[in-house]
Amino acid sequence: MDVLNAIEGRISTRAFLDKPVSAELLGEIIETARWAPSGTNCQPWQVVGVTGNTLNAISDDLVAHDSSGGAESAHYNYYPPEWHEPYLQRRRTCGYMLYEAQGIARDDKPGRMKSMLQNFNFFGAPAGMFFYVPKVMDKGSWVDMGMFIQSVMLAARGLGLETCPQFALAMYPDVVEKHFTPPQDHALVSGLSIGFANPDQPVNNYRTERLAVNEILTCYD
Ligand SMILES: Cc1cc2nc3c(=O)[nH]c(=O)nc-3n(C[C@H](O)[C@H](O)[C@H](O)COP(=O)(O)O)c2cc1C
Repeated sequence: MDVLNAIEGRISTRAFLDKPVSAELLGEIIETARWAPSGTNCQPWQVVGVTGNTLNAISDDLVAHDSSGGAESAHYNYYPPEWHEPYLQRRRTCGYMLYEAQGIARDDKPGRMKSMLQNFNFFGAPAGMFFYVPKVMDKGSWVDMGMFIQSVMLAARGLGLETCPQFALAMYPDVVEKHFTPPQDHALVSGLSIGFANPDQPVNNYRTERLAVNEILTCYD
């Protein structure tokens, strides 16, 4: 797979085949992703991989916790407390497209809730990852982590796998970390579902929008 195809063909995949992903395969992904760049080569990343019983136990616990209205305990604010345009509209469109792909009406609150809970089920993926940044580091390391996670997603594609990055899996670190020993003094940045995509599921068959190049890039000569 060439690099342009790897980037342009990646989508957040939210339905997976019932085909296992081994710890060895997760290791192969990291084998490539570890070559991601980082400021002064600090490599400020730790990854916890989960499969099998551990993944199932995390999933059960997250669903139970969220469904019972458990308090959020994320290590950082992913989004600002107040939304501004154009980001609010883009966020709404993102949600509408996702629900439409699943045949969920905009006013179908229980349907939307059911769809949202799929996050905690790793969208049926057989494997997951949790990404950690050292708390002693600053914003630059979070930039590095973004590059690292994208590298993981692209390396996964190179091995025939697809992924969905998920802040939802980082919303309740207290719940997740009951099931493994997290790296000490690290913040949980994001989770990620990983597996072989189910190509027949409509949720994997729509594309989100993007700004045009001239809305992103300004060149000066
Ligand atoms: C850090 C990060 C966290 C995300 N969290 C979630 C999430 O919790 N649940 C989800 O369904 N999608 C999540 N997404 C996926 C975005 O919705 C998706 O990337 C965006 O809509 C663009 O679609 P695409 O990835 O298919 O190109 C996340 C993406 C990123 C980069």
